[in-house]
Amino acid sequence: MEGLLVESSHSGQAVELLANTLQLGQCNTQEFPFKARQTHTPDYIRQFPHLRARTQSFSSLLRLRDTATALIHTFFRDNGFINVHTPILTSSDCEGAGELFSVKPCREEGDVEEDEEGEFFGCKAYLTVSGQLHAEAIACGMKSVYTFGPTFRAERSHSSRHLSEFYMIEAEKVFLSSELEPLLNLVEDLYKYTVEGLLREREEDMTFYHEQSQSTKEWVMKSLSRPFLRMTYSEAVNALRAANANFQFEPKWGSDLKSEHERYLTHHVGHCPLFVTDYPVTLKPFYARQNSDGETVSGMDLLLPGVGEAVGGSIREEREESLQAALTRCGMLESYQWYMDLRRFGTVPHGGFGLGFERLLQAVLGVKHIRDVTPFPRFLGSCDM
Ligand code: 4AD
Ligand code: MG
Repeated sequence: MEGLLVESSHSGQAVELLANTLQLGQCNTQEFPFKARQTHTPDYIRQFPHLRARTQSFSSLLRLRDTATALIHTFFRDNGFINVHTPILTSSDCEGAGELFSVKPCREEGDVEEDEEGEFFGCKAYLTVSGQLHAEAIACGMKSVYTFGPTFRAERSHSSRHLSEFYMIEAEKVFLSSELEPLLNLVEDLYKYTVEGLLREREEDMTFYHEQSQSTKEWVMKSLSRPFLRMTYSEAVNALRAANANFQFEPKWGSDLKSEHERYLTHHVGHCPLFVTDYPVTLKPFYARQNSDGETVSGMDLLLPGVGEAVGGSIREEREESLQAALTRCGMLESYQWYMDLRRFGTVPHGGFGLGFERLLQAVLGVKHIRDVTPFPRFLGSCDM
């Protein structure tokens, strides 16, 4: 990788920084936060969001983000999907997938207008937590579609895998049966196409990250050479209960898998990507298609080593009566009449998923904190720049 030459205003000598662009002008190396030929920790580098593109780790990351984005678009295009732009401003909370940021006008800069009644749009408006329902509306009129855009969640979490703003790839595939298999294959193919492409087109940048995490390199290489593991939620809970591990939260059928459970599963069940399928009805949103056992739905998560859940998806409930019952159960029937129309006026069996772009990068690069795989991280307590 080429070095960046920055002239020191003090010594007049050129110092090397590890990025690969050339810059003009003086740089006071005493004040400049990154020192030549020194290793800086991610925690330190993260304090300078406006300057970190000049470090090797971050310029590598930005090239990888760019290439991964292009590969994902090519994958969908080659597989017959069309790209749609779903809205960022929305009046729908998509199943309550996450906590919402509300959007209100400002009268003047900094002066947030009271807009409780939503007079600007005539209804309350939010930043999108998922483009899924909009993508479904389009898929039901056209064919398989995907969207790849910014997504916002107001979770009050400081965890290493949560951002308030992240990018999500959401696909809706039409003419799926009630079987999950083709949907799982689609996710697996997308992962493999993207990661193989990164290793081929960005070998040097991938090596830079993998040299810092040999175990990541090992599982990533393994993940490309064999099928992903698949187990049902019930099997996962049984494996956890038999694990004899000191979990903070006891694994129980009907309870969400916590991140400690996901970590255990990916680590101990093959150290490889793992699909968990057929979750209890209560753990997946109203649109997930109910299985014939009446207790589980045709839904799935993909767990990746290091980060846990990177994908969530399901076959969508296409049966009008079942959907109506599910919406009634969660008290959303009235506001989701437009979603009922997608079945009421004829439908197409379909299913889809959402892949967290940052979580994918975090996992395959072996980056500990999600804030280090996005240029300008937004999270509880921070919206710098
Ligand atoms: O599992 P989630 O909530 O699923 C949905 O939103 C569905 N509507 C997707 C669909 O079927 N079209 O979110 C999908 C993925 C998660 O698996 C995770 O990778 C990522 O989005 N994600 C986050 N990434 C970073 N920060 C957060 N706060 C995230 N919340 C979810
Ligand atoms: Mg999820």
